[in-house]
Amino acid sequence: MDKILIHGGHPLSGSIKVSGSKNSSLPILAATLLTREPCVVHGVPDLSDTHYMLQILIHLGAQVERASGTVSVSADNIESVAPYHVVRKMRASICVLGPLLGRCKEATVSLPGGCVIGDRPIDLHLKGFEALGAAVRVEGGNVKVFAPKLTGAVINLRGKFGPTVLGTDNVMMAAVLADGVTVIEGAAQEPEVVDLANFLNKMGARIEGAGTRRIIIEGVAALHGTEHDVIPDRIEAGTFLVAGAICGKGITVKRIQPEHVRSTTEALASCGFPIDIADHAISISPNGEAKALELTTEPYPGFPSDMQAQMCALLSTTDGISVITENIFPQRYMHVAELKRMGAEMQLEGATAVIQGVDRLFGAPVMASDLRASAALVLAGLKADGITEVSRVYHIDRGYERLDEKLSELGAHIERVKET
Ligand code: EPZ
Repeated sequence: MDKILIHGGHPLSGSIKVSGSKNSSLPILAATLLTREPCVVHGVPDLSDTHYMLQILIHLGAQVERASGTVSVSADNIESVAPYHVVRKMRASICVLGPLLGRCKEATVSLPGGCVIGDRPIDLHLKGFEALGAAVRVEGGNVKVFAPKLTGAVINLRGKFGPTVLGTDNVMMAAVLADGVTVIEGAAQEPEVVDLANFLNKMGARIEGAGTRRIIIEGVAALHGTEHDVIPDRIEAGTFLVAGAICGKGITVKRIQPEHVRSTTEALASCGFPIDIADHAISISPNGEAKALELTTEPYPGFPSDMQAQMCALLSTTDGISVITENIFPQRYMHVAELKRMGAEMQLEGATAVIQGVDRLFGAPVMASDLRASAALVLAGLKADGITEVSRVYHIDRGYERLDEKLSELGAHIERVKET
């Protein structure tokens, strides 16, 4: 396993280009199962999660070719069983259920494991499939769905924690080949859901309302192949904006749709970090007079749960008392104990973190636990005095394309070494 060493205090400057969105690529690659014709997807980031998804497609019988960020998939003859050893590495594998049900009218996929950010139920996914006429069985660690035919229905997919992103994706992918019209109420509005809907419509689907709480899908007989460019990764962009605020002379994040990171730029601006927003680029600089912040994570367009850990790192050295409440994954605080090892002063009160800003952080050996917590530790290391050693960086490699190299290009003193 690798670890990353960050020599703190070196100012960042310059610009970086954002990679394609992980959370858009995964469901779009799964959606290629809905047609036997070839699909070409550009801008797929080079991550372990996208590699896992390609392995699943290959295991299901698809032909897959990858040339840098372009992936070609031909799912001519496929089977509908994705076993544990194939899906166990990535929870998002569950988003092959919908296209397999839509295309094959049956599917067997191993249940996703839980993970450190909390329980990851799929009850809303299964509720949607049953509403479309599928029989659902959970046995032996697998979920099996079967439908002689799928019939459009009105489905409310809102759960106690709000909408479900992959649940909306899965039900949309099952409904595109159903008989009749499906209405998803309480749908997730994330840009990645819109990107998937755009991809499906280019394949011949008839989807309206993606990006709103109400998505209408008119089923069609079959879908055809297409070509598509994945949207930029708004969470990678937000992570680099926090890097630009935490230390240095200011950086510019290029190839981003500012609307997709509006809640993050508004939060950073409200602290007092100077932000300049152009058509497809955002510049940010540190501010020694930045103020504390109260923040709550919410479904899009609210402040994203996937940016919560990064903001904890930034606010740990922002003067005053900040309060962050995590409404999406209330246990998503694995980074707090590690940040405290670096001198941060923060206390957890249920799903709320109370952060007392300190003048300095101190480099220390810390352990990555989940994707975004790991990024937060790297960000804190940029600011800390001394050397921060982040172990288990395979968590970072799941969702960030060359994070250490991109930070080096901005002036960070950061190196990747083999864990002895
Ligand atoms: C997607 O996960 C993202 N992953 C997550 O990003 C992101 O944190 C999450 O959406 C929320 O925005 C991908 O897109 C691959 P949810 P997803 O279903 O779809 C509850 C990252 O770091 N829920 O929107 O799995 C659930 O427990 C990852 O890139 C149910 O109760 O999340 C949670 O509390 C981490 N029943 C809330 O809804 C269900 O059937 C939102 O979960 C499904 C979800």
